[in-house]
Amino acid sequence: MKKLVFATNNQHKTDEIRHALNGQYEILNLEDIGCFADIPETADTFEGNATLKSGFVYENYNLDCFADDSGLEIDALNNEPGVYSARYSGSRDSLENINMVLAKLEGIHNRKARFKTVISLMQNGKNHLFEGVINGTIRTALSGAKGFGYDPIFQPEGYSITFAEMDMAEKNKISHRALALQKMIAFLK
Ligand code: IMP
Repeated sequence: MKKLVFATNNQHKTDEIRHALNGQYEILNLEDIGCFADIPETADTFEGNATLKSGFVYENYNLDCFADDSGLEIDALNNEPGVYSARYSGSRDSLENINMVLAKLEGIHNRKARFKTVISLMQNGKNHLFEGVINGTIRTALSGAKGFGYDPIFQPEGYSITFAEMDMAEKNKISHRALALQKMIAFLK
């Protein structure tokens, strides 16, 4: 079976893709290939960071590899927090990051935002990019306890609940990550 590395340490993400590519590719994560390096994520775009990660594995291990990078883009904040989503407030604490967003949006009527994921698949030395986007709005207060990150303040378009109030199975059908992943899976198949 063909080997494909997923440049992540997240076991949940690894299991999800193993399930989706069931029997077609042997999916290895960074731990599986003995990669414990701190791979740089210094680019200022999702594409750039995803490509830095997949390229690192391809160059150092000579294995086909894919990597993802995601974040929240808010119209009224010039697409911030964007690539800085994980530590927008200077801390990795989700509540502090959410409070930072809510404070910056105070009194602002345009609440339009989107979650975006870009996957870079480095296969035979060629970079293939896949993007997934979900549009929505930023609430004025937190609602819901499921999910992670900015989920309690993000209401996807066409819904009246936040991501944090949605069942995981439903979020995983419509999320930015799911959409990007579906595109890559269709390409690989
Ligand atoms: P990553 O590139 O998937 O690790 O995402 C970077 C950051 O974006 C996370 O630490 C979160 O703050 C935010 N983020 C990405 N995807 C989601 C999501 O589905 N819900 C909430 N926050 C997210």
